[in-house]
Amino acid sequence: MLGRPSISDSEFDGMLERLRQLEDEHPELQSDDSPTQRVGSDLSHDFPEVEHRVPVLSLDKAYSYDELIGWVNRTAGGSDAGASTGPDAGGRPTAATRAPILVAEEKIDGVSIVLYYRDGALERAVTRGNGRVGNDVTANVRTIASVPLRLRDSTTVAVRGEIYLPISEFRALNERGATAYANPRNLAAGSLRRAKSAETAAVPLTMFAYEAYFDSERHASHRDILHRMIQLGFRLNPTVGFFSADPAQLDGERERFPGAVIGDLAKLREFITRETEERSVRDYEIDGLVLKLDSLERREMLGYTGHHPRWAIAYKFESPEGVTTVRAIDVQVGRTGRVTPVARVEPVFIGGTTVSNVTLHNQAYVDALELGIGDIVAVSRRGDVIPAVERVVEKNPESGGAFHMPERCPSCDSVLEQHGAHHFCVNYECPARMRGQLYFFVGRSQMDIDSLGTETLSLLIDEGMVRDVADIYDIDFDRLREYEGFGDRKIAALRQSIEESRSRPYRTVLASLGIPEIGPKVVELLADAGYHSIDDLFAVADAGDPEPLLAIDGIGERTAEVIITELSRPSLRDLVARLRAHRLNFSEDGDASRGDDGVPQLFAGQVWCVTGSFEHFKPRSRAAEQIKRRGGRVAGDVSGRTTHLLAGENAGSKLARAGELGVEIVDEASFLQMLGGGKAESGHGPD
Ligand code: IVH
Repeated sequence: MLGRPSISDSEFDGMLERLRQLEDEHPELQSDDSPTQRVGSDLSHDFPEVEHRVPVLSLDKAYSYDELIGWVNRTAGGSDAGASTGPDAGGRPTAATRAPILVAEEKIDGVSIVLYYRDGALERAVTRGNGRVGNDVTANVRTIASVPLRLRDSTTVAVRGEIYLPISEFRALNERGATAYANPRNLAAGSLRRAKSAETAAVPLTMFAYEAYFDSERHASHRDILHRMIQLGFRLNPTVGFFSADPAQLDGERERFPGAVIGDLAKLREFITRETEERSVRDYEIDGLVLKLDSLERREMLGYTGHHPRWAIAYKFESPEGVTTVRAIDVQVGRTGRVTPVARVEPVFIGGTTVSNVTLHNQAYVDALELGIGDIVAVSRRGDVIPAVERVVEKNPESGGAFHMPERCPSCDSVLEQHGAHHFCVNYECPARMRGQLYFFVGRSQMDIDSLGTETLSLLIDEGMVRDVADIYDIDFDRLREYEGFGDRKIAALRQSIEESRSRPYRTVLASLGIPEIGPKVVELLADAGYHSIDDLFAVADAGDPEPLLAIDGIGERTAEVIITELSRPSLRDLVARLRAHRLNFSEDGDASRGDDGVPQLFAGQVWCVTGSFEHFKPRSRAAEQIKRRGGRVAGDVSGRTTHLLAGENAGSKLARAGELGVEIVDEASFLQMLGGGKAESGHGPD
């Protein structure tokens, strides 16, 4: 199929590298249409082609640490590396005589873009294309908030950057069934090439800038250029490293680059190790690191090949991938009724864990892969920890084509309905859905009934003691005693955590019901807009008019409609009445969602862990106090119960652990925003 590679990126890169070597040795054999002359071209006929004013080169690559260090030693090993010009006429050390400085940046796996500014105004945004000619996608790029339309100074400059979609946003879009793209990069690339800019605007793309070519400004170093870009209003990746055999010359840089790692070449090694570990906790995908010489004078001396500059190199990470066979494709029914196909694969070890289940999202996703049972597939874990089928390596000739969603719900046999890309079981009484609702309700981000774990809950469901969430408050504990493993201690703990959950604030209770569209964010919006009880919301539903809801900033038409339909359901009203009889909170009487000192309990139900050091919280217990004031709990270690990790400088092992557990990682800047009631900004690493 078009657009879908039949070999992996690293296989392709390897073959290309070999070809490039052969052509270097035998230039007479190189042809004009050789892949080395046109790789990476992303030109399309749908957008005007324009010539680049600067050649948009690619990067040379190193695939192993040794290869990378070889390059470092050749290019910036010591004070005699690279350049041999002496001190300037006055005897002062020049960039060429001081120990060279290397800048390490993350290689963002997004879409390369060149932004041309004239006298401070964005004139054109052009894709990389073939490096000489690219596509003019200005109208679409203008919709990206982090691309300045006007610079803070009226300078003329070409800026290179990477446009990407944060992983969290990609997941959210996939959740909603809005896309069938395999990864954030493909979705970002697709969004940039929409005919209607409004469609690009609907996808929360963002950009990191990393190189600039000024018309008349002169700068001595890459550091100065990076800093100048910040001044001009560009968004830069805060994760950056400056390394030199003589790091003392970098002492002053902490002020200009608070997030930077600075040190000698040994520190560079640490930086690389840390990045390899932390890439899985970033909210964007990185496929490697880029090392660049800092001195522009040295860059000039080293020069370029037709393909890449000699002063920079990309260190590519191994992209963990495994090849396995699809044994079966099952469908799972979630609490919202959404039916998701899941590939059961022959267990395969990828990037540190054994993968045996791989989500296939929806029918469109399966169709795009043309995936069937028995096919041999490549499964990846990319920067993301969730495994994904990348492509079919070998079709099973007997599979009978791509898998098809069943017509009926595997749990309750009702006919499935298709909405957007997804299939749904619309039966509210469906046992699979109710099970999903129950697991959700007791979860740690909802009612947090911790002693009611998966095993106990499924026993209660299977034995018919619990059917819906209200039954949790009616459990016959004496009957439970008859089951193996249910001693006094266990039953007492169960009783206590259920009892405790009765005092969860209104906002938590409402969001825990798992009503479509009424998640924590919408609950906040509704309550802050004055809907302090579920009765206020029932009244709106009874009136049947979405207008009052639409007046709330952040609530759109679809959400308003669904809220009205859902809250009008008699079965929901019954459930709420029963939960009320069990004394759960369905209103914010006396403003129970505010703490003793009137602070909104924004972190209610959350369990935080704090690690590393902070600029604004010294000692760091100050940060813990802020969490507690907002109703959150603070634990000493990262565990299965942790919902958030606040990670400062030098966060260490807790960070890695949080990454493994899928705990939300919050850096200091995002934390400061959250304290004020804002949402964490994505795209910032935990530096
Ligand atoms: S520097 C001449 N820096 O990687 C300068 N590139 O294989 C060359 N990329 O097309 C680019 N992050 O799309 C540079 N921090 C970074 C980057 C970066 C991602 C991409 C870029 C480029 C490709 C090169």
